[in-house]
Amino acid sequence: MELGLGGRVALVTGGASGIGLACAERLRGAGAEVVIADRNAAVKSIADGRGCRGVSLDVADEQAVEAIAADLAQSGAMPTILVTCAGVLQRTLPPETLSWSEWDMVQRIHVRGTYACCRAFGSRMAAAAGGAIVTVSSVAGLRSAPLHSYGPAKAAVAAMTQNLAAEWGRRGVRVNCVAPGFTHTPALERGFETHTLTRDRLETLSALGRLVRPDEIAAAILYLASDMASAVTGAVLPVDAGLLAGSDWEAYGGIEARMEAAR
Ligand code: NAI
Repeated sequence: MELGLGGRVALVTGGASGIGLACAERLRGAGAEVVIADRNAAVKSIADGRGCRGVSLDVADEQAVEAIAADLAQSGAMPTILVTCAGVLQRTLPPETLSWSEWDMVQRIHVRGTYACCRAFGSRMAAAAGGAIVTVSSVAGLRSAPLHSYGPAKAAVAAMTQNLAAEWGRRGVRVNCVAPGFTHTPALERGFETHTLTRDRLETLSALGRLVRPDEIAAAILYLASDMASAVTGAVLPVDAGLLAGSDWEAYGGIEARMEAAR
């Protein structure tokens, strides 16, 4: 029981930055051998610096995903923990100007990429000693947002998590999902730089009045991946500093105004 992951191998896609990197560090801290799989050209040195192994991977290439799973299995280092963090954010374009190529690219990475990783690693876990998978959706997949490919893609990630949980549950594989709210990562920072998002505005909307830190998402992922969550499967867990709880308060003047009134 507990979080000790000594002797386990964990593979984190998108582990070279942001939420994935925080996750790799947490899993390593809990004793797991961690493989970071990312398309970032510096993945090997990023992983080395954290006591992890780095492999170059584009999750949109399902043959490459399959090849890495086969290699790891053959070398006796088959992961029993998979975390699928690889992803890109999307520009907030209206349907009239969002190109098909951008729409497809976002779907390919999030939906097909997540599925390809679950398929390659989860099916091997199901055939062997079991394991745990944690996928990464978003609050944008649970609510409306001007993200006409990213939102539906993240909703699909939550749906596939529940499908796979039922598919593999009796064979010892748990499959869960975290749905982060606005999390202070390099990707979000790019959103601030391009003025797509405004930090103050995002903080105001959440019940806790702040952004989420990457290590807070990683903590939830670590819990779901560990035996502490041995009876949890098919769950979609928002980790959002209370964004879902707080954002509708804007219709009534907002949480800030209420705090002001109470002062
Ligand atoms: P990030 O940009 O800091 O890190 C994403 C990592 O994924 C990068 O290392 C990148 O190289 C890698 N990556 C992207 N496409 C890839 C591909 N095709 N194959 C392999 N690696 C790939 O982003 P962040 O913010 O850490 O996002 C991680 C995940 O969390 C994404 O799935 C994102 O959609 C999700 N998320 C992020 C939120 C946020 O506010 N930052 C909110 C909700 C969800």
